[in-house]
Amino acid sequence: RNEIIDLMYDYVKYAICDAQPIRVLVTGAAGQIAYSLLFSIAKGDVFGKDQPIVLLLLDISPMLPVLDGVVMELQDCALPLLKEVVSTDKEEVAFKDLDVAILVGSMPRRDGMERKDLLKANVAIFKSQGGALDKFAKKTVKVLVVGNPANTNCLIAAKSAPSIPKENFSCLTRLDHNRACSQVAIRCSVPATHVKNVIIWGNHSSTQYPDVHHCKVNMAGSDLPCFEAVKDDAWLKGDFIATVQQRGAAVIKARKLSSAMSAAKAICDHLRDIWSGTPEGEFISMGVYSTGNRYGVPEDLVYSFPVQIKDKSWKIVDGLDINDFSKSRMDASAAELIEERDMALSTLAV
Ligand SMILES: NC(=O)c1ccc[n+]([C@@H]2O[C@H](COP(=O)([O-])OP(=O)(O)OC[C@H]3O[C@@H](n4cnc5c(N)ncnc54)[C@H](O)[C@@H]3O)[C@@H](O)[C@H]2O)c1
Ligand SMILES: *[C@@H]1O[C@H](CO)[C@@H](O)[C@H](O)[C@H]1NC(C)=O
Ligand SMILES: *[C@@H]1O[C@H](CO)[C@@H](O)[C@H](O)[C@H]1NC(C)=O
Repeated sequence: RNEIIDLMYDYVKYAICDAQPIRVLVTGAAGQIAYSLLFSIAKGDVFGKDQPIVLLLLDISPMLPVLDGVVMELQDCALPLLKEVVSTDKEEVAFKDLDVAILVGSMPRRDGMERKDLLKANVAIFKSQGGALDKFAKKTVKVLVVGNPANTNCLIAAKSAPSIPKENFSCLTRLDHNRACSQVAIRCSVPATHVKNVIIWGNHSSTQYPDVHHCKVNMAGSDLPCFEAVKDDAWLKGDFIATVQQRGAAVIKARKLSSAMSAAKAICDHLRDIWSGTPEGEFISMGVYSTGNRYGVPEDLVYSFPVQIKDKSWKIVDGLDINDFSKSRMDASAAELIEERDMALSTLAV
């Protein structure tokens, strides 16, 4: 009997080692978000404990020596699932046969740089990387854009990869989502995981609208509507929203660096949900390509919506009541994104 069990173990071990690795790209791989992110991905937190991984790391040429250090550390983690690490400054190497692309690297704002020039530099990066996805990646690749301005960069990448369905592109607003859950949780003295179904609408910026009208807080074993659990409408309609909207700036002010650990955690949450689905009855926020005027959001934007995910495809949650308070804030964020899209498309044309 023991022999049979041993044999079964051997077989399972063999099957695991033999499972086809997925190819996962992280761009901006020498940067601070990547430094917090790569370990979680490589050790199986995102794609499962039995899914071998090949990591592809892209950064710009001057950062290749730094990237060598990151590769050494990944090797030194001695992880069972990490089959190979490739570091490169070449898109044709980085984007080859990808299953997942996490686009973190982008042009940072430098002192004295005009907004339009910054946008233009990012449009150039995401046009080129979208083209590389189109040419080299698998057609089923899942693309997550993190580098700012994330919504518009995501739109440009999707438009530059016409052979890949637009639904396969999303941008990160999960950090904002997690921030909103935590603010409510702290207020109610419950763990953040007891707060469900907050929504981030719009752009990943200070015009985003963190909406708790559909949020539930699990307190003493039952799910309460957020307004009943918090019992402070003025806070929920005022300081709560401002705190979530300004959180990125507050972290920069305190740390003199932008959010990295929490951004990496949010990337993992976002991708794990894409890979394995969201729990029944729950939704999360992510920036997706807008069609069909859902909730009055104009078409052809990457806008953050509440979504549910099943079998690796997402669906915008239907039928939520939107009051005037919410509607005006959702519209303001959409207006901002339209302006940015049009500016981005005009620089794309020249
Ligand atoms: N959506 C979100 O919630 C969210 C949250 C936090 C940060 N961000 C954004 O994520 C990005 C990365 O943040 P970070 O703290 O890691 O920055 P960082 O400056 O530490 O690292 C960025 C890395 O990207 C690289 N890079 C620049 N252009 C590149 C290109 N064309 N191809 C490949 N790599 C390139 C840089 O060389 C650098 O190593 C920033 O744009 C930041 O604003 C987004
Ligand atoms: C992505 O594209 C493939 C087909 O190429 C499809 O099966 C999948 O459901 C799409 N959706 C998402 C969310 O990635
Ligand atoms: C949208 O959000 C991004 C990310 O914070 C920001 O860089 C960009 O300026 C915002 N767009 C506008 C038009 O303000």
